[in-house]
Order: sequence, then C-alpha cells, then structure tokens
Amino acid sequence: MWKIEPPLENRNGELFIDGCSAMQLAKQYGTPLYVMSETRIRDNYRRLNGAFQKHYANFKLYYAMKANSNLAVLNILRQEGSGIDCSAPCEIFLALKAGFKKTDLLYTGNYNTLDELRYAAENNVTINLDDVSLVDKLASVADPAGVAGLCFRFNPGMGDSGMEKLVCAGPDVKFGILENRIVDAYQRAKKLGFRNFGIHMMTGSNILNAKYFPKVAEILFNTASTIRQKVGIEFSFINIGGGFGVPYKPNEKNLDIEAVAKMVTDKFKEKITDTGSKPRLLIEPGRYIVCDAGVLLTRVHHVKNTGTKKMVGVDAGMNTLLRPALYNSYHEILVANKLNEKQHEIVTVTGQACENTDHLCRDRAMPKVAEGDVLAVLNAGAYGFTMSSHYNSRPLSAEVLVHNGESELVREAESFEDLVGKQEVPQRLQK
Ligand code: LLP
Repeated sequence: MWKIEPPLENRNGELFIDGCSAMQLAKQYGTPLYVMSETRIRDNYRRLNGAFQKHYANFKLYYAMKANSNLAVLNILRQEGSGIDCSAPCEIFLALKAGFKKTDLLYTGNYNTLDELRYAAENNVTINLDDVSLVDKLASVADPAGVAGLCFRFNPGMGDSGMEKLVCAGPDVKFGILENRIVDAYQRAKKLGFRNFGIHMMTGSNILNAKYFPKVAEILFNTASTIRQKVGIEFSFINIGGGFGVPYKPNEKNLDIEAVAKMVTDKFKEKITDTGSKPRLLIEPGRYIVCDAGVLLTRVHHVKNTGTKKMVGVDAGMNTLLRPALYNSYHEILVANKLNEKQHEIVTVTGQACENTDHLCRDRAMPKVAEGDVLAVLNAGAYGFTMSSHYNSRPLSAEVLVHNGESELVREAESFEDLVGKQEVPQRLQK
C-alpha cells in the first residue's frame, strides 16, 4: 500500500495536492494535467541543500533542469538560491529567461555541435566537456581565456542506478572521459589557455543506496588530486553530479540524504581540502528536487474488458508520460476520488497511443475503476512533461502550480492549431 504523505493528503477519500482537490483541478483545468507542488519543490531543495551546506559551506546545488524545465519551477529554484545544470543550448536560454545569472549556469552537453559550444561560450556560462577533443573545438569558436569556467566529465569506470537503463558511467557508456585520458584533457586545456577549472561526473540516476555516493565520489576526488599534481592546476569546483533517488514503489525507502551528505563531505574534506586548494563542492540533482512534487492527473474515459484483462483507458499515455513505455518504470497510481476503497481488482491502465507499449501500469491491484474517475499518477514531476511528445498528433498537456490550497495555470494546454506550428505546405501541393 502506498503511504499518502505531503504534499499529498487523503481528505475523506479524496486526494488533495498541496491543499488543492485533485478532482477540482481536473474539472477546472481539464485532463491530462501535470500538477506541481511549490511547497514540495522548496522542501526538497532545502532538505538536500541544507544537508550538504551544513558540512561544507562552499557548496552549491545546480538543479538539472532536464527533469522539469517549466519556467515557474525554475523561478522557484532561483528564489531558493539554486544554480542550473543545462544540457542543451535551449536550457541555457530558458534558465536565463527565468532570471538566473550566467555565473550560476553550467552547460553539460554531449556530442556537441560547434554552434552549441559557441552559444555556451557567448553566454559566458561554465562549460563541461564530454570528450578530450572537444577542448580544441571549443578553442576554435571561443577565446579560451574568455571562457568563464571549464570542466571535463570524468567517467570513473563504474556507475549505478535502481534501473539498468539509467546507469551513466562505466566502460561501455556513451558519456565522459575514462581515467586513462583525463590527465591529457586537462593538459591540453591548460596549454590552450583555459582557466578556472573544475571536474565533473554523473554516474547514474535514481540511486537509493546511500553508500554508493561516497564510494564513487572517492574515485573522483582521488582523480582530481592526481590531475592537480600532474597538470599543475587548482580546481575551483568539483561536481559529483546528480542521481539522488526517490522511492517509486511502495516498498522502497527514502534515500538517507543526511547520511549521503555527511559521508561525501567527509571524503571531500579528507581528500580535497587537505591538499591546500579549497574548491567549491557541487551537486546537480534533477529528480530529487521535483519528482515527488508532481502528479499527473488523467481521467478514465473508457473501460474495456478484453476477456482476459480489464483495460482502463485514460487520456494520458506514452505521449504524456513516457517512462512506463520506455523503461517499464513503476509509477504509483491512485484513484483520486476513491482513496478509501479497498483494492479489489487487477487492471492495466493504458493511454490512447497506437502502440501496445502504451501503458501507465500493467496488472495492478486497484479499487474498482469506472469511467469518469480521475487517476493520479505519482512521481510525475521529474522526466514527465519534459519527455512528453506529440505522438499521434496529441497536443502537450497543461501544467498547474499548486501552493497551500491555491492553483495557478503555468502552462496552457496546446491547441490543435499549435500542432500546425511552423509547418509550411509548398504552394504546388495546395492545389
Ligand atoms: N547531470 C547530468 C549530466 C545528467 O545527465 C543528469 C541526468 C542529471 C544531472 C540529473 O540526474 P538525476 O538527479 O535526475 O538523477 N529519463 C530518465 C532519467 C535520465 C537521467 C539522465 N541524466 C528517467 O526518466 O528516469
């Protein structure tokens, strides 16, 4: 059984999100609807930031906006004092739109184009490179001495994740620079005249094992010391990446973030600050900040008994929330108007896309679901809207921000007309 905890509440069998009735939100704004709790985003940020900050003051959290790039969400995090990890030029653009200072942005691309590197350099953000040869490419489009800060993404040869597909480091992955080439990368960068160095890694996503973090961080810290000695540079910052996990399944436990912060900062002080330079310690979490702050509301429109299964057809599918279809990932689903009903039937919840992988859950025990019910898909705040698509020509959903019983529309649902977008039909085809 899923334990309903803030920002969620069970009020007489009905789901409330940050003080707002899910049924009322569904009625007022329509479905499918992404609902984000401002209170929870702030709480998540403060819990994680506070845990590290209290052990090492020269620390900064860079929110990985690929998890949720809504401008309202970004503005909340700017108010909290966050920096931003951008993974594409348009994320730099959006972060600047949300009022972040250029000095608070880090750009981590991979397999970049020259134009992308130029855009990052022109915007004066710190740049994180994913390969040795990219440093020459960057130097061909920007004056090295003018680049605000430079780091390389180190691949420590190991990674982890609650899900195999979310491991981002190790010998066979597409990311980062392995140990045998990392010294060369800094040597080349120094020679080209870059300055203000950092080092970065990102080894996996949704990790719930606290002990993993100091273990992999130690490899990074040791590597940083080696580079410092061999290349003769000081690091201004050391970034251990994101990956802080969130429980998706009822039996999973919260990541002990206090323990993670203590263990990582202890290692950091032992390995890094004793060497003389006192770099800033960075983390770049996405999921931890926004995942459980978001709920996807979707209405049941058609229930079909196939003879072998009860299919519950809803208006959100793989086009709205891709994770179950892509990774077979588990999202808890509550019937927002039937929280007090006993679980008594097994259903598969499916969207409207023309794909048999289009499901939100398979063979799950749920209260007797009927047409008109509203389902709340939990943990939809991270990699939900940002991975949604127009597949089957379905417009993107609306997003609502909720806060202490108040709701505000922060993204209008797209219209059919929006799907025409920037397309143009050649004259000769219009006859
Ligand atoms: N930094 C970099 C360079 C990353 O590539 C990522 C995520 C993060 C930070 C943030 O990681 P987090 O703290 O959220 O674990 N689409 C998948 C997640 C892929 C994560 C990829 N990189 C999902 O739906 O679970």
